[in-house]
Amino acid sequence: MKALITAGGDGTRLRPITHTQNKHLIPIANKLMLAYALDYASDAGIIEAGIIINSGDTSIAEAFGNGDSFGMKIEYIEQSAPLGLGHVVKIAEPFIGSDPFVFYLGDNILVGGIKKFIDDFIGHGSNCHLVLSQVPDPNRFGVADVQDGKIIGIEEKPDHPKSDLAVTGIYVYDSHIFEAVNNIKPSARGELEISDAHQYLLEKGYSVSYSEITGWWKDTGKPSDLLEANRLVLDNIKDERKSKIDSASTVSGRVVIGSGAKIINSNIRGPVIIGENVTIEGAYVGPYSAIGDGCAIINSEIEYSILMNDCSISNISRRIEASLLGSDVELLRSKSKPVTHRFILGDQSRVEID
Ligand code: G1P
Repeated sequence: MKALITAGGDGTRLRPITHTQNKHLIPIANKLMLAYALDYASDAGIIEAGIIINSGDTSIAEAFGNGDSFGMKIEYIEQSAPLGLGHVVKIAEPFIGSDPFVFYLGDNILVGGIKKFIDDFIGHGSNCHLVLSQVPDPNRFGVADVQDGKIIGIEEKPDHPKSDLAVTGIYVYDSHIFEAVNNIKPSARGELEISDAHQYLLEKGYSVSYSEITGWWKDTGKPSDLLEANRLVLDNIKDERKSKIDSASTVSGRVVIGSGAKIINSNIRGPVIIGENVTIEGAYVGPYSAIGDGCAIINSEIEYSILMNDCSISNISRRIEASLLGSDVELLRSKSKPVTHRFILGDQSRVEID
């Protein structure tokens, strides 16, 4: 069994963060998004992964190298243009060969990993195994029509969904999927849709089985999805404190604190993860915050937020929440008169103030 993992796309709904970095390198609970996919694959016993990247993007290979740290051999496969997930599968055929494989969309985060789904595929002996999840907004996804425990149809982003069962971004295939992606035509948006490949398999009489995710699953397209994924992961962290906390500080709940951190006269209320060499002084860090390495939070309050590395927040009077800060962002109180709001913001930044 091999893994094929996507790490391309433009991440347009995550701008401005994605102006300067690939969305799959955004940290969720201080771990790169794509590292979850690689860990899940490795936990399932997979030792060879192909990662699909935008052509010319070297950032993913810089982050994950040859896969040694995951006990895997990673190959990088460039997609020349965003021609759809069916196209991704098509160009991966030389890498996959005739092996069965798990196809994993790198922006999907779930609890419990993927081993169960691979076991279910093997147990069913099917040609294709889909992982479904009940969602409130099925028209945003591939949707399965399930009758009497069998999938009878799949539609991509239908206006009138036949069920509330979204096809998540975790698929297990045998090599018949290549026949499917080589026979479907591009959709109205010019892409080879993976849902059309699944529908092809159904129409040709190949067996398409499924599992339903009962726990938490999210595809992380928007900032609010990242914050939710961060919450989900932090809900499952184990307490680990590698730095001293001074006697004037209170730390409650499950908290991970990296080495070299200074917690001075502050209140930390878990679940929270704090990276290495972070300074927190006279501050409140509330539930579901992930604070990257090298950040400083001084005389300020924050909760339910993600700070990437080396951010600095000081003397902000109102609590910051539901916020996503890229690397090296500074938020500080103006010292000079007149006291005004002063912004230096990149394209497509978003600021909410009272
Ligand atoms: C893609 C697939 C869709 C699937 C979804 C899961 O959609 O086309 O069938 O339900 O991933 O994340 P996209 O996220 O590219 O719009």
